Amino acid sequence: MKKVFVTSQYPGESVSRLSEKYNVVVYPETTLPTREELLENARDSSALITTVSDIIDKELIDLSPELKIVSNAGVGYENVDIPYATKKGIFVANTPHVLTETTADLAWALMFSVARRIVQADEYVRAGEFTCWHPSLLLGMNIHNATLGIFGMGRIGTAVVRRAKGFDMKVIYQNRNRNVEAESETGAQYLDFETLLKESDFIVITAPLTDETRGKFGIEEFKKMKTSSIIINVARGAIIKEAELAYALEEGIIWGAGLDVFENEPVVNDQLLKLKNTVLVPHIGSASIQTRHVMIDMAVESVELALSGEIPKNLVNTKVLEYL
Ligand code: DGY
Repeated sequence: MKKVFVTSQYPGESVSRLSEKYNVVVYPETTLPTREELLENARDSSALITTVSDIIDKELIDLSPELKIVSNAGVGYENVDIPYATKKGIFVANTPHVLTETTADLAWALMFSVARRIVQADEYVRAGEFTCWHPSLLLGMNIHNATLGIFGMGRIGTAVVRRAKGFDMKVIYQNRNRNVEAESETGAQYLDFETLLKESDFIVITAPLTDETRGKFGIEEFKKMKTSSIIINVARGAIIKEAELAYALEEGIIWGAGLDVFENEPVVNDQLLKLKNTVLVPHIGSASIQTRHVMIDMAVESVELALSGEIPKNLVNTKVLEYL
C-alpha cells in the first residue's frame, strides 16, 4: 500500500478519505515534524501533504525514491525546491484562490486593530483601568477617507482593495506590472514605489517573496512614509527588515504596524515584542475554520489524482510534464 505522510493534523474528513486507499500517516503532534522526522517519513512515502514550514529540498527528494507528489496546503510554496522536484518528475501542488478572501479579511483585522488600538484598549479594560470616559483616551487613526497603498496587486491585494470601497478610501498600488484588471474592478491607481511610500496612510503588503521584494521595506523606506502611517504585512516576513521596522516604530518614524508574518518565523524580533504600537499574530492569514477545510480538501484531491496517474489540478510546476 502506498504511503502518504501528512505533516500536520487538519479538521474535517478529507484525510480519513485517503486512508481507505492508502497507508496514511499523520504526524501526531501539534507541532510540525522535526527535520529528522520529516526525512524518516518521506523516505518511503509516495505523497506528502506539507505546509510552508516543511522544507522539501534536494536531500529529501533524493532520499525519497517513491515520491510522486508534494501537495502543499497553502498558496506559497517557497519551501519546495521546485526546479529539482520538476527534474525528478515530482508533482508540486498548492491551494490557490481559496484563501484569498480569508487573508484579505485578516489584513483588514490588522488595519483596524492597529489604527484603533484594539489590543491595547482590550488590555486596558481587562486591567480594570477604565474608570471614566476621557477625550484623550486611546486615540487612533481614521480608516475612512484615508489612502490605502497596496504593495503587490495580485489576488489578495485586489481582495483587500475591494473591501476599501465601504470606507471611501483612495487606493493606490505598486506591483511588478500594472494590473489593469484590478484597476478597472477597484479604481486603484498605479504609482511608483516612492510615491506609494509618501502618499499612503496604510501600506498593506500582499506581494510574494522574490529576489526583488526581499528586504524591500527598511529604514530608508520608513523615513519616506508619513509619521502617521501604518504598515501591514500578510505576505511574507522577509519583505520587511524587521529590526529596522522595530526602530522606526520605536522612534515614531511611522505610527504603527500589524504583522501576520515574520522575517525568521517563528522567531520574532525582541524589540517588536516590546512595542505597544504593533499588533503581532502568528501567521494566521488563512486560518478560518471554513478555509482550512477547503485547503486540506484540495491538498487531498491533488494526492488522489497524482497517485491514480492523473495530473493534479493545482500544479505549480507544469514543466514536470516534460520529465514524466
Ligand atoms: C500560504 O498559503 O502561503 C500561507 O502563508 C500559509 O503558508
